[in-house]
Amino acid sequence: AAFREGAAATRVVLPRGSRAWLVTRYEEARSVLSDPRFSKHHEGFRRVVELSRPDGAEEPAFDESLARTMLNMDPPDHTRLRKLVTKAFTARRVELLRPRVREITRSLLDEAAARGDVDLVDALAFPLPITVICEMLDVPMDRRDDFRQWSNVLVGGSFEPAEIQAAGQAMAGYLLQLVEHKRANPGDDFFSELVHASDDGDRLDQGELIAMAFLLLVAGHETTVNLIANGVYHLLRHPDQLAKLRDDPSLLPGAVEEFLRYESPINQATVRYTTEDVELGDVVVPKDSLVLVSLLSGNRDDAKFPDADRFDITRPTGGHLAFGHGIHFCLGAPLARLEGEIAVGMLLERFDVTPTEDLESLPWRPGTLIRGLVELPVNLTPRG
Ligand code: HEM
Repeated sequence: AAFREGAAATRVVLPRGSRAWLVTRYEEARSVLSDPRFSKHHEGFRRVVELSRPDGAEEPAFDESLARTMLNMDPPDHTRLRKLVTKAFTARRVELLRPRVREITRSLLDEAAARGDVDLVDALAFPLPITVICEMLDVPMDRRDDFRQWSNVLVGGSFEPAEIQAAGQAMAGYLLQLVEHKRANPGDDFFSELVHASDDGDRLDQGELIAMAFLLLVAGHETTVNLIANGVYHLLRHPDQLAKLRDDPSLLPGAVEEFLRYESPINQATVRYTTEDVELGDVVVPKDSLVLVSLLSGNRDDAKFPDADRFDITRPTGGHLAFGHGIHFCLGAPLARLEGEIAVGMLLERFDVTPTEDLESLPWRPGTLIRGLVELPVNLTPRG
């Protein structure tokens, strides 16, 4: 309710009874994301977990080792860590993955076709990104389902302190094993490269490695799953848009950008702290305030995207905030776009997709950080 109140009434609000400022409009959201007075130190992740906790609930014992990622750092620490991983995720490097991403998608769709009725989250949207990121890092897939469960709990699916603590410990333990394994058995993969040394001789310490593996593995799959599932969901809800895309598949890259804008997979994960009093919109946000930027709300601002609540795969979407903005702009954006285009493109090429349950009553994941469907039950009928 506080979120809606903020979005409708003003640009920057401290919702009643809340402990964080909420930025809801495009212009202010974009300026916060590129203004160094809005800092991101590693306390951030911890504070977000605390904030998501209902009043009076016990404080979760949060595993700090997972929070020391570049996403929770300011320059120069952020600059150093980001530099070590940038080269693996450039558009050119990612383009080389296209044949493999198509192959994985083809085999997932083959399995789904054999069943006909499937949950598209389970059959395609979840397994594709996690398989790709595990292969990039050469991480074995045997604990994939455990990993999914821990990650879901940690990224806002639970308010139970004991559950959060157990998931954090299990995840940190698993990542420690992975790092040790890579140390003993280096390969020619990107993870081994990070464990050993980078080109300029910089090295990550054990804690940094665990946090980096956590960030890449979690960011690599918690988000793209929602790009794919949310995108297909809205095509099914808007048959005119689906028909347009079927008629002209060259619209696909633009459609993926509209999926990202219209139902942004990350909503309020973008937390910042003020290092001084800052004038923003029509208020002054005091020093040491916690500020949440709602990307989804910014992307639905009519002042930037006219008639923003209309889903239109041909509209201009330039400047949307789904991947953030500024120095923390999503490292995986080229990979997410590639996976989104291939998954949705191949799905529509091969099948007529029909929902098997009422689309309006499908469950969404709890919490405000991630915007994604729990499941998307559909029937897949091969096209003639
Ligand atoms: C950062 C969104 C996929 C890796 C971010 C941020 C957003 C975002 C909004 C910035 C957060 C902030 O400023 O606080 C998304 C969306 C995705 C996606 C919507 C899919 C549709 C991926 C993938 C990877 C990835 C596939 C690959 C590993 C990262 C990393 C950062 C990041 C490492 C931190 C960058 C930094 O701190 O400099 N992402 N992401 N993301 N993303 Fe993504």
